[in-house]
Amino acid sequence: MRKLIAGNWKMFGKLADVAGFSAAVTQASSQAELLICPPFVLLDRFHKALNGGAAALGGQDCHASPQGAHTGDVSAGMLKEAGATFVILGHSERREHHGETNADVRAKTVAAMAAGLTPIVCVGETGAERDAGEAEEVVRSQLMHSLPDGFAGVVAYEPVWAIGTGRTPTEADVRAMHGAIRAALVAQHGPAGAGVRILYGGSVKPGNAAALLALPEVGGALVGGASLQAADFLAIAACARPD
Ligand code: PGA
Repeated sequence: MRKLIAGNWKMFGKLADVAGFSAAVTQASSQAELLICPPFVLLDRFHKALNGGAAALGGQDCHASPQGAHTGDVSAGMLKEAGATFVILGHSERREHHGETNADVRAKTVAAMAAGLTPIVCVGETGAERDAGEAEEVVRSQLMHSLPDGFAGVVAYEPVWAIGTGRTPTEADVRAMHGAIRAALVAQHGPAGAGVRILYGGSVKPGNAAALLALPEVGGALVGGASLQAADFLAIAACARPD
């Protein structure tokens, strides 16, 4: 299976960045599947610039309802209409700064799937939870309560303490956690759980991507800061060998 290299632009990027970034991605030849998740307002411009080609598009969040009086929110169907085929859900920044619970993430995941989007559901422990030896238990619980029955999507393991910090877990820790996530997915979802792609996220850079992407059960990467420059994003993608 090809690896999925997803760029999470968070609240960065301008309309003026879209053409150059899209051209760079279009000119590159990559063995990986590429995905760009820009702020909502850039989706339509990206969709036109990429012209259905080199990279897929995703949102960074959606509401659980198809429409309604929800000031400031966006629905999964609206993302789809703007050209998205994926949506990131339950990112730790949403869980922490917007109080999103596992139940919220699950409801959004159901909405995304109903709208025909592929959800990328994020899980990951804090530094304190890792230090207390609770990392796997925390992640298992997030998976249990954030993923609906019949889940058809992607899981991203993002240790909170590794996001934007330049710190990454050891290869042994990533290997152990991705193995634990796979076991939990199979226990919860049966054979379908065996096919779920598990991304690693948290300070993925061109310099560490090859080692991380070569680990068992690492089906790709969710990249924040290093996805903002096309050269870095593509350098990471170039490290992704198909399984
Ligand atoms: P980072 O962010 O690559 O900047 O650490 C990853 C993420 O939050 O998805």
